[in-house]
Amino acid sequence: MAVGGSFLLRPSLLSAGALQGPLPRVNGKRLVYHLNALAEYGKNPQGGVSRVAYSDADRAAREYVIGLMGAAKLTVSIDAAANLIGRRPGIEPKLPPLVIGSHIDSVPEGGNYDGDVGSMAAIETAQALSESNYPLIHPLEVIIFSNEEGGTIGSHALAGELTEKQLSQRTNSGKTIAEGIRFLGGNPEHLGAVRRKRGDIAAYLDLHIEQGGLLEAQHANIGVVEGIVGISQWDVTIEGFANHAGTTPMNQRKDALLAAAKFIESVNQVVTGSQGRQVGTVGKIQAFPGAYNVIPGKVVLGLELRDLEASKIQTMFERIRTESERIAASTGTRFDFAQVNSIVPALTDKRIRQLIEDTAKEWGLSTKSMPSGAGHDAQEMARLGPAGMIFIPSVGGISHSPKEYSRSEDIENGANILLHTLMKQDRVQ
Ligand code: HGY
Ligand code: MN
Ligand code: MN
Repeated sequence: MAVGGSFLLRPSLLSAGALQGPLPRVNGKRLVYHLNALAEYGKNPQGGVSRVAYSDADRAAREYVIGLMGAAKLTVSIDAAANLIGRRPGIEPKLPPLVIGSHIDSVPEGGNYDGDVGSMAAIETAQALSESNYPLIHPLEVIIFSNEEGGTIGSHALAGELTEKQLSQRTNSGKTIAEGIRFLGGNPEHLGAVRRKRGDIAAYLDLHIEQGGLLEAQHANIGVVEGIVGISQWDVTIEGFANHAGTTPMNQRKDALLAAAKFIESVNQVVTGSQGRQVGTVGKIQAFPGAYNVIPGKVVLGLELRDLEASKIQTMFERIRTESERIAASTGTRFDFAQVNSIVPALTDKRIRQLIEDTAKEWGLSTKSMPSGAGHDAQEMARLGPAGMIFIPSVGGISHSPKEYSRSEDIENGANILLHTLMKQDRVQ
């Protein structure tokens, strides 16, 4: 990209040791090298990673990341929620920090780009600033949030929202959230210490892959995120009656799995029954006892609803619950809903959106404003200060899959937009 130039800070800052020099830019080759090296941790046979939060692979990858943070001259700490924090001092140490970051945990059988691009780019941003001796007025924090995929747990704790009930939830690693936090070096008994309030951060920026196909379809280089969907998740337990599959007549069964099938269909009907971009998924299911010759007596399934408006999620949920009562009556079963996660929708900051647009323009990159259908730590950080998100294209719109892919050129572009938007935001009074 044809962006040259140099920096000259305002006179009051020169006295604080700021110098003149070439404008920093990221080292794209190093960034992609780090991304590929990170992909070795939890590598799966399908070509992606299975690096669920709190697994051995997660812990080993974090060790690798700690090394990268040190090389970028960041001072590293692990907070009580097991977030990895790399800090760089600012010219004015009392100012709240600018925060950039993402996550390195993956979904089961995930890919090499979701969260990883933003994490490696945030560290590369710090390294580029350090190598060009570019002083930020604000302190900088690079945060690699713990357990993003299990409900933005690390950033939820920063926002002061992580509950005792959540701490006892069992995760994909087999550990509870409390056990997992301890495993990564945090302390679930001291979560109060990580809690931040509005104004405790100067701003938050996150570079992320789009995870959808809009940018690619419209040949846009950079997505400027307008808002991030809210996500609510429930464990739904259906109680029927386990009985002999050969001797129990069809009209005398209380088949929990049959009820679940009807329920899944009704979720789809409720969600598609009104206009809008709302989505709803039943993404996991277990039937008990689980044998050819036993009528399933119990089913536990996972329901998730997403929309940019919290009220729409609530309305859909109420309709789904009404449907479940109808299904329960017709199948002789009982439904119980236990909410496990509720992440509020969030809008990004208008001024940061403009800074991202301006920066992309300077770099000769095209932009597209868009909502995010995926959840991100940015929606938790938006409670603490102005937040912005930069998207880069996902080839084929594929994500949460080993086939997830973003081009090196797009990754480098996105990282430079992150770096230069950060530098602009640093000077916002
Ligand atoms: O589930 C999500 O939307 C995100 O990728 N964690
Ligand atoms: Mn994800
Ligand atoms: Mn992500």
